[in-house]
Amino acid sequence: MDRLDKRLSGAGYSRKEANGLIRAGRVTVDGAAVTTPERRVEDGAVIQVDGAPLQEGFLYIMLHKPAGVVTATEDAKERTVLDLLPEELRRRGLFPVGRLDKDVTGLVLLTDDGPLGHRLTSPRHHVDKVYEVTADGAFTGDDGERLAAGLTLGDGLKCLPAELELTGRANVALLTIREGKFHQVKRMMACLGKPVTALKRLGMGGLRLDETLKPGEWRMLTEEERGELQK
Ligand code: URA
Repeated sequence: MDRLDKRLSGAGYSRKEANGLIRAGRVTVDGAAVTTPERRVEDGAVIQVDGAPLQEGFLYIMLHKPAGVVTATEDAKERTVLDLLPEELRRRGLFPVGRLDKDVTGLVLLTDDGPLGHRLTSPRHHVDKVYEVTADGAFTGDDGERLAAGLTLGDGLKCLPAELELTGRANVALLTIREGKFHQVKRMMACLGKPVTALKRLGMGGLRLDETLKPGEWRMLTEEERGELQK
């Protein structure tokens, strides 16, 4: 049994913020407001702040990255994906799993679970990444065949086989790759003579971007989604 203020500090609130929230009656334990910071709380008790569950343990956050922010934890000049989260979550040691270029949008997973982040980004694991690619030029079945055979880029980089799925729009396709080299998709498309004009990541491993999230919005992963990631 830990003190209520300590449980809030463990979830990223400063001691002062925790005390303020508790004394203001904004924190409930098993549904009832508790206004004494020193109150000891059962390990399994449900703690809520302003009606939202206190985020304890590892965090797994799905973010719809907008264009114009960098996928980094800090940057001297640019806004980062972490700047899109509230202060108490930014103090939790979160990092983005893999990178998207500044102009690229879509799914970014943020977590403080180091081993999981490592598994998902390790080149040994070949985790599927799905992108919606908009190109200057119409995709053809021939592009799909060349990608499936494994492209060799102009600089000699041999790409793993990738899958191209044509859509109803000539210059938009879904591309699945299993590696993540620097500017990989843009370089692959340039090699096909179809330069990328817009790129959006839709999936990573078993995780799919929740299309109800607008660019810049985020949410915690559901239990089911967390399970998918662990597979
Ligand atoms: N491929 C790219 O070229 N850029 C990204 O951000 C991701 C994949």
